[in-house]
Amino acid sequence: MAALLLLLASCSDPALTEREQRIFASFSLARLPPPFTESNRFAKNPLAAKLGEQLFNEPGLSSTGTISCATCHLPHKHFADGIAKAKGLGELNRNTPSLFGAAWSQWQYWDGRRDSLWSQALTPFEAKDEMGTNRVAVARFILQTTNYRQQYQALFGEINLQPSQLSTDASPIGSDTEKRAWFDLDNNTQEAINNLFANVGKSIGAFEQTLAPVDTRFDRFIESVVQGQPDTKLLSKDELRGARLFIDSEKTQCLECHNGPLLTNGDFHNIGTGRFDASKPGEQLDFGRVFGVQAALINEFNCQGRFSDASNDGCKHLRFINRSAVSHTQGAFRTPTLRNAPNTAPYFHDGRFTTLQQVVQHYVSQPAASPAGTNELRAFALSEKEIRQLTAFLHALSADN
Ligand code: HEC
Ligand code: HEC
Repeated sequence: MAALLLLLASCSDPALTEREQRIFASFSLARLPPPFTESNRFAKNPLAAKLGEQLFNEPGLSSTGTISCATCHLPHKHFADGIAKAKGLGELNRNTPSLFGAAWSQWQYWDGRRDSLWSQALTPFEAKDEMGTNRVAVARFILQTTNYRQQYQALFGEINLQPSQLSTDASPIGSDTEKRAWFDLDNNTQEAINNLFANVGKSIGAFEQTLAPVDTRFDRFIESVVQGQPDTKLLSKDELRGARLFIDSEKTQCLECHNGPLLTNGDFHNIGTGRFDASKPGEQLDFGRVFGVQAALINEFNCQGRFSDASNDGCKHLRFINRSAVSHTQGAFRTPTLRNAPNTAPYFHDGRFTTLQQVVQHYVSQPAASPAGTNELRAFALSEKEIRQLTAFLHALSADN
């Protein structure tokens, strides 16, 4: 009897259509394009990655000697931290993203204010709520730590700086004292320090480049589809139905933004999560991409900057960046990957949701009219059962099974 029921139940789902198979196949990790490396010629250098990994874990590169990149990007937590908003020397406004697959993103940060891993890596050092140090202190630390100095020089050549040139903390974006000290340095010294600083970033970028997205049970299903032999038994009934809902453009909109092997289009979208209302007490404003565009363009370590390794006709992402559509970029955030989402709660740029069910609920509820910017979500209705199925699908993207 039980066997008969099981048989009946397993017969009730129609076979995957040709369209469904084509879309599922497009999620295959084998189709992942190469990562973005054009501005970092050390991106694939294993010795740079080795140095970068040590620097990633080095608390000596913070003002207090207590904070490293790994304080917030914990290797055993998928290089995230499991808390809503990150804590370094102070509390940040945003949630820490996992770094698995970050190398496949053209833009870094929720608002894309950096255009490479290496330029991103330089930012936390000089952010007062993160590591609170400055580029001169970073240069001094590399020069004075024999182990790092030797590895650095083997990769990038002799360091043409004397300890006496690095005796005063300084940075063009630091405290007033640090700024003054920076502008007291001569151009050659500034250039040498910036060059060393950029190379620290390039080493860390080379390490992060090794953090490939993690294979999941869902990938074994995808592989079976690619082979032309869909093995739906690799997923539970709910997971499979949820996966079909996820790609069903009549019922949900997910695929518009979450597509390709990383389940993201890598672009910025407004899904009604920005915060623009300064009159609300305690509101931490967040305009998202609209400031990210400006910040990426003026960053001295961007793809078009003097420390970039890109060719003159490269950096298309900056040359063709969309500067005009303020209404589209205001309150937009970068679509995150959904790979391993079950391992990287809480969710959204501010960690407002702790479960995937709550995230799905956000999409199902009628989107609130946003006071500024344009919410791209359409309202759509899913039954309780469908919400459960969609959530079950997201859980199948866990790295743990
Ligand atoms: C205090 C915690 C903290 C520290 C320390 C920290 N990060 Fe982060 N990291 C974050 C948060 C929070 C974000 C997202 C911030 C945002 O979008 O504004 C982030 C974003 C990133 C991103 C972008 C990922 C993506 O998908 O957009 C990368 C890469 C990254 N960090 C690497 C590093 C490196 C390398 C270091 C050390 C040099 C570091 N982080 C230090 C908390 C931290
Ligand atoms: C219009 C584009 C768009 C559509 C459609 C869309 N998403 Fe998203 N998704 C985003 C953006 C942008 C974020 C980040 C929002 C933020 O941080 O404020 C996000 C975040 C998420 C997250 C959280 C991931 C994390 O690490 O924080 C999940 C899970 C998710 N989406 C699932 C879905 C599902 C399921 C659907 C369909 C019901 C869907 N999305 C439809 C753009 C979209």
